[in-house]
Amino acid sequence: MTAGGMPRRRFLAASAASGLAGLAPFAPALAASGDGWGEAFAAALGRNPMLLGWKTPPDRLDAKSLTVAGKWPAGLRGRFFRNGPSIHDRFGRRYRHWFDGDGMIQEFAIDGGRIAHRGRVVRTPKLAREDAAGKRLYSGFATHLESRAPVRGPDSMNAANISVLHHGGDLLALWEGGSATRLDEATLAARGFKRWSAQLSGVPFSAHPKVDPDGTLWNIGCALLPRPALVLYHIDRAGKLVKAGLVKAGPMGLIHDFVVTRTSLVVLVQPFLFDPARAESASALDAHVWNPRAETRVLVVDKADFGKRRWHALPACFGFHYGNAWEEADGTIRLDHCLADDPGIVTETLRYVMKGEFRPSSPLRYSRIVLPPNGDGRIVSRGEEAEFAKVAPAVVGRRHRFVYTLGVPGEPPGWHFRTVVKRDLERGTAERFDYGPGRIPEEHLFVPKPGGRREDDGWLIGTVLDWKKGVSGLSLFDARAVAAGPVAQAWLPYPLPLGFHGTFVG
Ligand SMILES: [Fe+2]
Repeated sequence: MTAGGMPRRRFLAASAASGLAGLAPFAPALAASGDGWGEAFAAALGRNPMLLGWKTPPDRLDAKSLTVAGKWPAGLRGRFFRNGPSIHDRFGRRYRHWFDGDGMIQEFAIDGGRIAHRGRVVRTPKLAREDAAGKRLYSGFATHLESRAPVRGPDSMNAANISVLHHGGDLLALWEGGSATRLDEATLAARGFKRWSAQLSGVPFSAHPKVDPDGTLWNIGCALLPRPALVLYHIDRAGKLVKAGLVKAGPMGLIHDFVVTRTSLVVLVQPFLFDPARAESASALDAHVWNPRAETRVLVVDKADFGKRRWHALPACFGFHYGNAWEEADGTIRLDHCLADDPGIVTETLRYVMKGEFRPSSPLRYSRIVLPPNGDGRIVSRGEEAEFAKVAPAVVGRRHRFVYTLGVPGEPPGWHFRTVVKRDLERGTAERFDYGPGRIPEEHLFVPKPGGRREDDGWLIGTVLDWKKGVSGLSLFDARAVAAGPVAQAWLPYPLPLGFHGTFVG
């Protein structure tokens, strides 16, 4: 570690209790929880099949040939990977938050009009230890175990359940409380944790790395104990660590995402702060405290020199994901973020859905933040409900015109997404496709068309759960005509658990 280097063992201790995600089982059926959550979910699923997306699937899924509709372009060949919490019931207990289930990799192999699928649970060391013990051993992000195994480092409870990255020849399942997990590309089997360097072994590597148009990768890692600290990563296009840094960021909570400009990394430290004193007797989530009167602090770090930093201040706000960021000639940074008024979505909505209860929360809205060079900060606009914002890879860190999000139709906002939205930020317009009642879309990625010249010369690819039919599918849009709906789809013979993020490997 370079700037401000913290010894590795301290890093491990710092990270050990950050426990940002959970545990899980391989039971294909609903498990009795013994504490009412499993029974409550089973009863709710009987009344409301929309909850299918939070049911534990079998730990191995295979479909050699999907049912194809429309015309898949001959120029689109590759593999679309996704990850998400999937194993929500384990050893007769149901986890108490959507974020706690262990990860399952979904792979769609696309070869012209032929599409195959397979799903594989990420066999982490945690799962192996729990299987050997015949019981759950570790607390999750929001599932607190009173009696739990000693934690040797954050990877003791690594659930590998947030995203997938393909970089420098490695296929990696990403978590955020600890290491990335290497996957065998042929079998999707877990092959141990990725070590960027000996010093960084077991140090958190977050699930939202940013890749510059030249292939350079930047990432953060969030450690909460014994004192909050941010790790910064600079990795070249071949997957080699160029440098790492450490920022002692003061009071801090879980930081899920960040953005880059041409010259800087930008990280929001929201006033949803981790209290170490609470962590002994509560889950990581319940050790966080929301202070709506406190500022959101914004850290800007120079890519060329991690020691060059400045801070900005914003009103209190909460969000998971950004759209993109860029800087103007005078140094002003503009960035897009899906922001809510408070963290109710994580403390309420996404917790109680695990027992089949719907508790609405402050919606995430597509928002624009401005950071002038003098250290001020402003949230200058709050648009309609939006999440999982994506831009074309060619404009990461550059001024973008188009952004693609999920949304909900009309007001008041619904509690889950139903639309795919393309926003034209220059014209202030948007076009949207509504999947309609009965379908829940997930993150849709932008995949550039070979030889494309315009920013929106590409496809959007994403999954959708049709809970009325009990199956999941894959959709492909022409990014220049989103409102026209998918140009092609492919349907599985089974449903997939709702997940988070993925990547397309051409
Ligand atoms: Fe995320």
